[in-house]
Amino acid sequence: VKRTPFIAGNWKMNLDHLQAIAFVQKLAWSLADAKHDYADAEVAVFPPFTDLRSVQTLVTADSLPIGYGAQDLSKHDSGAYTGEVSGAFLKQLDCGYVIIGHSERRTLHAETDEDVNAKVVAAHRHGLVPVLCVGETAEDLEAHGASAVPVAQLRRALEGVDASKGLVVAYEPVWAIGSGQAATPAQAEQVAAALRSVLAEVAGDDVAQATRILYGGSVKAANIAAFLREPNVDGALVGGASLDIDEFSAIVRFKK
Ligand code: G3H
Repeated sequence: VKRTPFIAGNWKMNLDHLQAIAFVQKLAWSLADAKHDYADAEVAVFPPFTDLRSVQTLVTADSLPIGYGAQDLSKHDSGAYTGEVSGAFLKQLDCGYVIIGHSERRTLHAETDEDVNAKVVAAHRHGLVPVLCVGETAEDLEAHGASAVPVAQLRRALEGVDASKGLVVAYEPVWAIGSGQAATPAQAEQVAAALRSVLAEVAGDDVAQATRILYGGSVKAANIAAFLREPNVDGALVGGASLDIDEFSAIVRFKK
């Protein structure tokens, strides 16, 4: 099975809606330049909620080949949930994707595996593809090795879920996020392969082979190609380096 590489930029709480427009416009120019010289990856950005309408307007008006999505969603559809954003609203803005279970949500906002599972279900209910994040802390790594926690998180997140409705999995070792200390491509491959086995077990071989598994954690232009050479790593979820237009452009134009 050939899986289209997926390069996703998670802006976290950076770039307001005016900066978002400028950034996406520059990214589009850069992709247009690269068209004939570089590998064909799918590119998506994940701006703050307040940017999404502006990004939608620009992407739609100019038919830009750039996907986008939110960084989180509510597990509920509507109602008295102050501060929450429904998947229905995201779908109305033509979001294709939504990040779920990022380690910052799990740690700083106490999201549990149960919450993550409910959010995956909510995303599917609204026709959004979850970019489901899993990953071990440095302590987990020392105590249980690299795969145990991400594998357990994936199983819990997919309980009662029909993964054939669309899924991207992002393996993000917590110790590699924002640290400048990326996992090695071999480490990423080992965990990605373990995650794909779980997918095969819970969703069948076809879904497992079709599902893209990304690596995230200190990805930059200098290391992207090495990750993408691994057979089970299908792309990257990029944080810090997705905010720098030159660096992110270089990442999306990775040479095989
Ligand atoms: O979602 C993105 C990750 O948290 C990676 O962040 O590229 O800044 O290490 P980073």
